[in-house]
Amino acid sequence: MGSKDELNDYEYQHLVFYVNGKRIDEPNIDPRTTLAAYLRDNLKLTGTKIGCNEGGCGACAIMISDLDPVTNQIRHYSSNACLTPVCAIFGKAITTAEGIGTVVQKKLHPIQERLAIAHGSQCGFCTPGFVMAMYSLLRNNPKPTEKEVDEALQGNLCRCTGYRPILEAYYTFCENGMGKIKEENGCAMGENCCKNKKSGDKKTQNVDPNQNKKLTSFETCKPYDPTQELIFPPELKLKNFHKKSFVLSNKGLAWYQPTSLEELLRLKRKYPHARIISGNSELAIELKFRFIDLSLTINPKQITEMREHKIDKNGIYLGMGLSLTEMKNILNKYIDELPEHQTAVFRSVCAMLHYFAGIHVRNMASVAGNIATASPISDLNPIWMACGAKVHLLSEERGERVVLIDENFFVAYRRTIIQPDEILLGIHIPFTTKTQHFRAYKQSQRREDDIAIVTAAIMADIDPKTHVINDLKISLGGMAPTTKLALKTMKDLKGKKWDKLLLEDVLIKLQDEFKLPPGVPGGMPRYRQALTLSFFFKFFVFVSNELHIAGYDHSGIDQPVGEPQLEHFTSTQIYHDVPSDQPAHDPVGRPIMHQSGEKHVTGEALYSCDLQYPDMLYMAFVVSPVAAGTIDYVDITEALELPGVVSYIDHNDIPGDKRISHGQTPVFAIDEVFYHCHPIGAIIAKDHETARRGAYLVKVNITPKVPIVTIDQAIKENAYLNPDGYHVHSSLAIEKDNKIPENDWSKYSKVVSGIARMGGQEHFYLETNNCIAIPGEDQEMEIISSTQAINDAQLDVCSVLGVPQHKVSVKVRRIGGGFGGKESVCGLFAAAASIGAYKLRKPIKFVLERFDDMAISGTRHPFYYEYKVALDENNKLLDAEITSYSNGGYTMELSKGVMERCITHIDNVYKFQNADFHGYVCKTNCASNTAFRGFGGPQGMFCTEIVMKHLAEDLDIDVDELRWNNMYEEGDFTPFGMHLYSCNIRRCWTECIEMSDYHNRKKQIEEFNKNSRYRKRGIYLMPTKFGIGFGFKQLNQAGALVHVYTDGTVLVSHGGMEMGQGLHTKMLQIAARCLDIPIELVHIQDTATDKVPNASPTAASVGSDMNGLAVQNACQKLMERLKPFKEANPKGTWKNWVMAAYVNRISLSATGFGIIHSEPVNFMDGKGAELYGYCVYGACCAEVEVDCLSGDHHVKRIDIVMDIGDSLNPAVDIGQIEGAFVQGYGLFTMEEIRIRPDGTRLTRGPGNYKIPSADDAPRHFNVKVLKGSSNKSAIFSSKAVGEPPLFLGATVFFAIREAIKNYREEHGHSGYFRMDSPATPERIRMLCEDSIVSKIPDLPDPSTYTPWVVDL
Ligand SMILES: Cc1cc2nc3c(=O)[nH]c(=O)nc-3n(C[C@H](O)[C@H](O)[C@H](O)COP(=O)(O)OP(=O)(O)OC[C@H]3O[C@@H](n4cnc5c(N)ncnc54)[C@H](O)[C@@H]3O)c2cc1C
Ligand code: FES
Ligand code: FES
Repeated sequence: MGSKDELNDYEYQHLVFYVNGKRIDEPNIDPRTTLAAYLRDNLKLTGTKIGCNEGGCGACAIMISDLDPVTNQIRHYSSNACLTPVCAIFGKAITTAEGIGTVVQKKLHPIQERLAIAHGSQCGFCTPGFVMAMYSLLRNNPKPTEKEVDEALQGNLCRCTGYRPILEAYYTFCENGMGKIKEENGCAMGENCCKNKKSGDKKTQNVDPNQNKKLTSFETCKPYDPTQELIFPPELKLKNFHKKSFVLSNKGLAWYQPTSLEELLRLKRKYPHARIISGNSELAIELKFRFIDLSLTINPKQITEMREHKIDKNGIYLGMGLSLTEMKNILNKYIDELPEHQTAVFRSVCAMLHYFAGIHVRNMASVAGNIATASPISDLNPIWMACGAKVHLLSEERGERVVLIDENFFVAYRRTIIQPDEILLGIHIPFTTKTQHFRAYKQSQRREDDIAIVTAAIMADIDPKTHVINDLKISLGGMAPTTKLALKTMKDLKGKKWDKLLLEDVLIKLQDEFKLPPGVPGGMPRYRQALTLSFFFKFFVFVSNELHIAGYDHSGIDQPVGEPQLEHFTSTQIYHDVPSDQPAHDPVGRPIMHQSGEKHVTGEALYSCDLQYPDMLYMAFVVSPVAAGTIDYVDITEALELPGVVSYIDHNDIPGDKRISHGQTPVFAIDEVFYHCHPIGAIIAKDHETARRGAYLVKVNITPKVPIVTIDQAIKENAYLNPDGYHVHSSLAIEKDNKIPENDWSKYSKVVSGIARMGGQEHFYLETNNCIAIPGEDQEMEIISSTQAINDAQLDVCSVLGVPQHKVSVKVRRIGGGFGGKESVCGLFAAAASIGAYKLRKPIKFVLERFDDMAISGTRHPFYYEYKVALDENNKLLDAEITSYSNGGYTMELSKGVMERCITHIDNVYKFQNADFHGYVCKTNCASNTAFRGFGGPQGMFCTEIVMKHLAEDLDIDVDELRWNNMYEEGDFTPFGMHLYSCNIRRCWTECIEMSDYHNRKKQIEEFNKNSRYRKRGIYLMPTKFGIGFGFKQLNQAGALVHVYTDGTVLVSHGGMEMGQGLHTKMLQIAARCLDIPIELVHIQDTATDKVPNASPTAASVGSDMNGLAVQNACQKLMERLKPFKEANPKGTWKNWVMAAYVNRISLSATGFGIIHSEPVNFMDGKGAELYGYCVYGACCAEVEVDCLSGDHHVKRIDIVMDIGDSLNPAVDIGQIEGAFVQGYGLFTMEEIRIRPDGTRLTRGPGNYKIPSADDAPRHFNVKVLKGSSNKSAIFSSKAVGEPPLFLGATVFFAIREAIKNYREEHGHSGYFRMDSPATPERIRMLCEDSIVSKIPDLPDPSTYTPWVVDL
């Protein structure tokens, strides 16, 4: 820490900056505080959301404006506020979503307005981040291209919408945008579009004039006017803040921001262990996970010498103070200006930077940070090594040295030759010569914003005449603890000729030089080896093409699929207008905006994590470091000594029951831990960060036990949560009809049998679980929670506190996505917070960090199946015997219901003459797995679709014919005994075929594949059926409370939670219709146990069905009471009648109640029943392109037809269809939960768990709501929509499989092949068997090594 004199040398010792035009002067702040925390906690600007706190989701995106210290020009750029230290914004201006528009003043920015009217928000938690990402783009570029919009959104994730409406809203700002999108977006019907038909055309007469093809028109939106933006604060410019030095010293922590190189070097000499913070995208992560020492930090970004760039005769020199974005811009300028042959490395750097993190990270992060961190999977270091880049290192003592980045630079895992007193000043990137060829490659789990699995950069200097190799450099990342040069291979090849023989030689040599052991850290040993060879192969083909060597199909081989530019985006949303005689003020059936849409886009929508109360304390869990063991002791001494820590709680502090969830789940581990990150206790402190630090300091000593982690282990150990299993026997279901086919497998001639697996899925709602517990008088406790199961949270709090239910109230205003992950598990968090609040008599806020949330809250259940299925001579499904095993985790929780739904959906849409379905829930040392959209249904249907494919391929039957031949028909009944009425699956199927132009496109794809060797396309059709209702009968009930006030306004309360699915919006529509009043008169505030008791979880897709009935029921009662007043004054208004009722002392408050049908199946003996109220049907057609060399894929087009009855709100419902589809697409392709064999959970954040990004959204996305389907079983003939479309995401999985199949066949591998879900790049590549894969040795016997991760 510097002396007073040293600090006084700095021009500013207070942190001065602007936020939304307001000056902030902060004298006293912990320099480790992030901008996101400061905005939210200190300035109460909660529009900046925290979704991950590690730069991976974009919910915290804000815009920074400052002056360039070299050019003095104003710059605007987006940044992740969660990675940006608040001190780093000294002298800068911050803009947040609240700063550009507000609902309160009825002033939305065009970016906000268009996103809202496009229905671009559902839960709204990601929305302010998207707004700010787009805002930052427009501030620099008011007329961007679609590509620029795509790039601007690279760092933002949305888990709800499926991205279509967001893209559609933001493309309107493009050159050809605003209103034009409507015409440009082709109709899914293609040439058959009604617009293209002449009058008199026979088909035109069938076109329904009520059919709409777009949910949104932007024609009335106000134009974007850049002159109306907030100006850069004059003070910052006039006083040259960008050239001022700044220091902030607080309680032994200091932040230095020198403006001269001399001062930087002096500091680094004096404090060699001070950390230089450039973009903070590495250090923030280290601080977060390992609490590294950041007591002294130096920000060099204002130093002009570090921002220089200059061209010399050999290449370009770039100062290390430049951000990656600035570097890319400079390189792009020279790419345009210089001869092409000189800039091959520049082009590779720019291409690589497109896939390097997201744009918000790139705007802040530096090359210096990337080099100094020396990550083995750095994207850029292989390029520097292969091209011969040099770094300029500078120290006060020894001056400057220029060092080649070669095999000696990275000395060990995350270590370089840079000395502690040295700084990275600049980098020199050489030009390429005419004879040099250069390319860089990266493969990751998700195409964009993902760290690499393997990276490669290759440079070949080849004599163009003789094709002799003068020089060759192959550099690889992800194949060793450091970035490596393939020194041996390179040496052997020098002087050889570039030809086919050389290719074989290199592949063998590379394979030999980069062998990975089977249990290599990071896993995927065979894939990583295959990738190195594939990358070289790609390079070989690319160079051969440049050298005009014939015989290699070059088409697109060296570009990622979907590139160089994503196709122009198109979409249609086909739905039907309300009947022409429906009154204008009746909102039912109209695509009205989400009730909170405008508040989402301005950041004014409040979530429980946004609230603060006086005297509030914060909590963080102390968790188990191992998956199984007995607790020896817990030492809290060090934690309690940390300033700001107030208390520690564990099971000893629980006044009531120590277990929640009906006695299953201990709130805190008692003597034993059962999974990695099992909560043991909790630290309570003055703020969130201190609580986390305190929890980190608690020492837990555990004697470990051998855990059971996988389904395979559980089967072996006979470890089940339901040892007797659950069963469905169709023979019992059809007993009455006396048509039980004889079950004798020996008589069947067409039989297939096999096994399959499907991985789990992390919910990844953007808002992590959180709650606030507020102690009241006596035993009262108020909980404000992010739960979707308010009643469960109430019961759990009551049970741990030992108080009756009427003393505990739970409230939820809205939640930032749930998808099932905030159902039963929320009770754990509410109970823990309430124990703290009870003990300390203070409000306790408990917000889970993403990595704890992911480890503790459970996931979708992974499944394993064993099947045997027979067809009869007519290819009708004759008999099936399928056993499903789920990984349930350590307690049953909701696993029973999930398994039951699996075995009641395993038929999907097919009629089995006889079927025996069994389900076992495995007991493992994993967090208890839980509900997730679809609740076991997708797992069941996935197995069936695998079976259909297996049957078709083994028995050489067209899979579509096989399906059609076996599809349910009206009145059929399922193996579990449910009759299917209004069974619309065949209609969905045929309409989907028509809409997608399936047959023609299938032929086109066959043609494409014939001519494309390494990129293959696949197209696939898939149907789905989903039963609506809770499997547990008593949950199929709901209540509502409706108040009418004397001014005529209406307040509706019901038992459902608004989590983005538009439930409140639909309830407002229902109330408005039932009361016959404009929707503007109706309001919903929150959901609370003291308004509507005993509410079922908002789950099973029945939120609207059940709560809608309850609201309707309450409204009907009120209308009944108002009837006499209406009759007495027929010309009066609603307000007149309400007032008359009040004057006559008639109650204007009514409760309502609703139930939906459910008849329980007896799953113990397989006996059937009408379990669900009705079914929802759908079909999907997916087309993909696969890079068979890398395993990458891209979704080209999706067409979905969904039967959702008479939609209550087509905008909400189509949003649900698209969102569920994309979530399902993630499930079946890229989302992979990774757990070590000892039960350690590796995937705990967006850094290593990948959900689809906007780049993954289908480029052509068409959704059609089936016309003329009504539903007697739900309100206003509607149908549930939340879960049913999710399974359609699997269509992409099967389309990918088609592409793989084509590649395999070309390489001599025919016949059925097993492909488990998800279709990750690893799985895709390794199934694309070819001469490269055959070079990779098989893994040894599993008993001989410990794999990095296991199949759950
Ligand atoms: C969400 C996310 C996504 C990411 N994606 C990628 C990716 O796709 N590919 C990839 O390669 N990396 C990725 N990273 C890692 C990281 O962004 C990069 O390594 C980045 O280049 C680090 O730069 P920085 O300026 O932010 O480093 P900082 O965090 O500021 O610093 C990192 C280290 O470098 C040192 N340092 C910084 N500047 C200097 C200097 N001038 N002289 C000496 N030492 C210095 C620091 O002291 C520190 O030790 C990602 C990180 C995040 C958070
Ligand atoms: S919260 Fe900052 S990126 Fe996720
Ligand atoms: S609306 Fe995007 S995460 Fe919910």
